[in-house]
Amino acid sequence: MPKLSPDTVLHRVPSFIAEVDTSNEVKIHFESRILKLGHDALGLLDLFHQPRTVGEALTLLGPRLKGRPRAAQDALATVVSLHQAGLLRTEPVESFSDQPFPKGGYDAAFVHIAMLEDPVRKASFQQAVRDTVRDGDVVLDLGTGSGILAITAAQAGARKVYAVEPAGMVHLARRIAERNGVADRIEFIRGWSPQLELPEPADVLLTDIVGNEALDMRIWETVQDARRRLMTDSPRLVPGRLTSYATLARIPDEVLDKHRVTQGHLARWKEMFGIDFGPMAESEARRSIGFYERPETVQTWDFLSKPAELYQVDLHQDMAGPLETRPTLTADRAGEVNGVVVHFEARLGPDTTLSTAPWLGCARSHWYTAVWALTEPVTVEPGQDLSYVYRYLGDGTSHFEPVSGR
Ligand SMILES: C[S@@+](CC[C@H](N)C(=O)[O-])C[C@H]1O[C@@H](n2cnc3c(N)ncnc32)[C@H](O)[C@@H]1O
Repeated sequence: MPKLSPDTVLHRVPSFIAEVDTSNEVKIHFESRILKLGHDALGLLDLFHQPRTVGEALTLLGPRLKGRPRAAQDALATVVSLHQAGLLRTEPVESFSDQPFPKGGYDAAFVHIAMLEDPVRKASFQQAVRDTVRDGDVVLDLGTGSGILAITAAQAGARKVYAVEPAGMVHLARRIAERNGVADRIEFIRGWSPQLELPEPADVLLTDIVGNEALDMRIWETVQDARRRLMTDSPRLVPGRLTSYATLARIPDEVLDKHRVTQGHLARWKEMFGIDFGPMAESEARRSIGFYERPETVQTWDFLSKPAELYQVDLHQDMAGPLETRPTLTADRAGEVNGVVVHFEARLGPDTTLSTAPWLGCARSHWYTAVWALTEPVTVEPGQDLSYVYRYLGDGTSHFEPVSGR
């Protein structure tokens, strides 16, 4: 292991678990080991959220150590321990996470394989980037992941691309940009966009933090913050608009049974475990339950209406408090409605709109379909209207309920 000097640059590993116990002792769980360290460990790990020299980290930590004898020597000893344990490294970790599911998060290979294998998503985004980015543009790629959109923007003529990503995947993205000869025009920044500051405003914002239910990854709030602080006055946004649609559906019982506790479950569990789990059914009986299902599964369900617009969000506009809409869905055939299927269309570029309609979806679509299981099934006739209230409360949270007294 190379010896540390004040000029040695250290990089923090992408993931570890820190625990502080009641005696203020810090325990770091890393690679199946627990390291017991002094309380300066948290401050140091925080400072190394970006690569720094040992000397710079100790100087920055200085004000927090004031008045404690031997504090500087202790902090240096902690840096050495973190380095020996592999948490601070002289070389950045430039690979997929070695953490097994689900800890790998956006550093896990399977996440990026699924996104890059999605035949609709990437081709549409790439086309939109090429149609939107002009020679000499400054571009912000918010949530760069593998770097695909940042690299496409650089290839399309961007003068400078700022690519921000909290996951350690950002190091791999930097190497991919180097391999493709565009690293000189892309600055990869490890972090979350609300903490990001840029030396110049960006002309174009690229982001695909579009969730399965379009707003559930907080795209609206996140784009709003970026627009206000990091962009020119009339930025070009990819995507610029999200339109969500709801369709009446009959969810098959075996699917519903995975999400709602039924009398059948209660009877079986009583028999198996000798315990009455009744409150589990009572507590959730009064609200619709939202879940995600694969589009190739949803595609086989019965649909009992045409899609109706649930909401339309123009990402150029600010979010003025919670969003509430009252869609009416008109049955176009007789049957039993027990759920509503939600898909979205993302307006990506002048000629590119991407749809997650399950009837268009396929096994390679990386998006899931959002589904609301309703509290009570309703038997409908063709032409019958059903009224609902949809609320997006912010922070990725939404509710969908029938209008009461229907
Ligand atoms: C769906 S992935 C897309 C990755 C990549 N752009 C692609 O197209 O393959 C979204 C990425 O955005 C990142 N992300 C989410 N919210 C973010 C934020 N506020 N700031 C920066 N990155 C964010 C996530 O860590 C994740 O890597």
